Amino acid sequence: MTFKSFAAASQARIESYLDQQLANETLLDEAIRYSVFNGGKRVRPALVYATAKAVGLNQDFADPIAAAIELIHAYSLVHDDLPAMDDDDLRRGLPTCHKKYDEATAILVGDGLQSLGFQQLSLMPPQTISASLTALCEAAGPQGMVLGQAIDVSSAGSALCYEELQAMHRAKTGAMIVASCVLPGLASEANASELSALRRYADAIGLAFQIQDDILDVTADTTTLGKPQGSDARNEKPTYVSLLGLDGARSELAKMHAEAVAALGELKGDINALRGMADYIVSRAL
Ligand code: IPE
Ligand code: IPE
Ligand code: MG
Ligand code: MG
Ligand code: MG
Repeated sequence: MTFKSFAAASQARIESYLDQQLANETLLDEAIRYSVFNGGKRVRPALVYATAKAVGLNQDFADPIAAAIELIHAYSLVHDDLPAMDDDDLRRGLPTCHKKYDEATAILVGDGLQSLGFQQLSLMPPQTISASLTALCEAAGPQGMVLGQAIDVSSAGSALCYEELQAMHRAKTGAMIVASCVLPGLASEANASELSALRRYADAIGLAFQIQDDILDVTADTTTLGKPQGSDARNEKPTYVSLLGLDGARSELAKMHAEAVAALGELKGDINALRGMADYIVSRAL
C-alpha cells in the first residue's frame, strides 16, 4: 500500500466512524458536527492507524482511539480560535465556530467535544482503559495541551528562549501527537521498549508538526491554509520562526525528522506508514 492510499483510507475511515458516533438532533449537535466535518487533515487519526499497524493492534480498536483524539483536537481548535485566544475568523476554509454560530455556542461545542472524546475510551478493551485514560488526560489536560495553550496565551508579546519555546510546543501540540502513538501501544499491550520508541518518534514529529505550522503561518497563503495566514505575527506569538528565523526553523524541522526516523528503527512491526507520516509532517503544505 502506498502512503497516499494509506492516508486516504485513514481519512475515509475516521470520517465514517465519527459520522456514526455523533448525534444529529439538537442545534448543539449541528454545531458540533460543523466543527468536526469541515475538512480537517485527520493527521492524528492517521498516526493512530499507522501505529496500530506497527504494534499489531486490530484497526477496530484503533477507531475509538482515533476518534477520542480527533474530537479533543477539534475542541482545542474551536477554543483556540475564540476572541479571547487567537481571535481567528477562518478555520479549514470556513467561518470559525463562533463566527458561524456565536461565542457561547463555540464554548459549549468545545466542552461537548471534550466529553465525547473521552467517552470513546469506554469502547476499548477493559484491561486497557485505565492506562489509556490516564495517558489521554495527561496529553489533553493541564500537563499537556491545555498547559501549552496557557503558555502560548500568556507569552504573547514576549520573547521565549529556545528551551521555553520547545516546552510550549511539546505541551501545546506535541502531547496529543504523542498520545496518538502511545494509546495504540497501550491498547496492544506493547512492551516498555516499544512504548519508549513510539514516544521518542512521536515527540520528534510532534515538535516538527508545530514547527511546520509556525513556518506555514508565515510562508503559506490563507486560501491554501484555510485559516488566516499571519495570525501568529498579528498576535505577537513567540514561534520557531520568530526565534530562529525561517532557515533556523527549517533546520530544526530537519533535525526532528531525523530523530523520528531513528526512533522507528527500534520498532519490529510494519513501520512503513509511520515513516510516511514523518515524511509528510515535515513537507506538508497545509
Ligand atoms: C492545527 O492542527 C493546530 C495545531 C496543533 C498546529 P492541524 O493542522 O492538524 O489542523 P486540522 O485538524 O488539519 O485542521
Ligand atoms: C494551536 O496552535 C494548537 C492547539 C489548538 C492545541 P495554533 O494556534 O498555532 O494553531 P492554528 O495555527 O490556529 O491552527
Ligand atoms: Mg493558538
Ligand atoms: Mg490558532
Ligand atoms: Mg498556528
